[in-house]
Amino acid sequence: MSAPVVIVTGGGGGIGRATCIQLGARGCAVLVVDRDLAAAEESARLAREAGGDAVAHAADVSDDAQVAGYVAAAEQRWGGIDGFFNNAGIEGPIAEIPDYGLADFKLVFKINVTGVFLGLKHVIPALKRRGSGAIVNTASQAGLRGVGGLSGYSASKHAVIGLSRAAALETAPHGIRVNTLCPGPTSTRMMANIHAAVSSAGGDPSGFVTRIPAGRYGEAAEIATTAVFLLLDAPVFLTGAEIPVDGGMTTP
Ligand SMILES: NC(=O)c1ccc[n+]([C@@H]2O[C@H](COP(=O)([O-])OP(=O)(O)OC[C@H]3O[C@@H](n4cnc5c(N)ncnc54)[C@H](O)[C@@H]3O)[C@@H](O)[C@H]2O)c1
Repeated sequence: MSAPVVIVTGGGGGIGRATCIQLGARGCAVLVVDRDLAAAEESARLAREAGGDAVAHAADVSDDAQVAGYVAAAEQRWGGIDGFFNNAGIEGPIAEIPDYGLADFKLVFKINVTGVFLGLKHVIPALKRRGSGAIVNTASQAGLRGVGGLSGYSASKHAVIGLSRAAALETAPHGIRVNTLCPGPTSTRMMANIHAAVSSAGGDPSGFVTRIPAGRYGEAAEIATTAVFLLLDAPVFLTGAEIPVDGGMTTP
């Protein structure tokens, strides 16, 4: 059997890059999609170094034509798609709702929700053409509970879970599985930025870590390992699930 072909969006970022490297180590062909082409190129280089076949592709996940473009690029290069890590996202500002700008709210939804929707819209037909496949959408612990100061982000990640559930129901009859990854706070650019924003607003960012029973942030590699399991190894019967990887933060 030929190597699985996987598209990773947000592939230039912390969680995306760690996933590209682990997919490369498994011998996958990886299309590394990011609006930051230099970051995507570096992830592709690292994935090739790990043993895979990887190329970078610049695209904005919230643009319909550019999403169609990255799906077509993977199909043309490798003849089909087996896995899709629908992972790009932004955190938006830290502000309580009365001070949260409407433009910021719309932008967070445009990238985190419309971007995930468009990825599903264009990738599902490609997986149907293949006759199987796995999709992993990245939500967050903030999609499982409310997070004050991050209303746009938290609402967008709740929406990602809703999209994933609907997609899982639509695709299960076709042998395609769709699951949602819900990372807790993880050491990447995003968490560093949230820290800086809370500090500069006079807040205390140490509260994030004290709410994690494991007593630390996650590492991008730990989130990646779970994504790779869901993309390559999980049984077809595992679909429609939300998988927290959060040091116990959302354990009921
Ligand atoms: N780091 C955390 O603590 C954490 C926790 C829970 C969920 N997440 C989620 O994990 C995913 C990855 O985040 P990360 O921590 O690796 O952050 P990151 O900022 O390191 O990576 C995000 C990547 O997405 C890309 N991106 C943003 N908007 C894009 C767009 N419109 N089109 C194409 N690419 C775009 C960025 O260029 C960046 O490379 C996100 O969906 C994030 O919400 C992160």
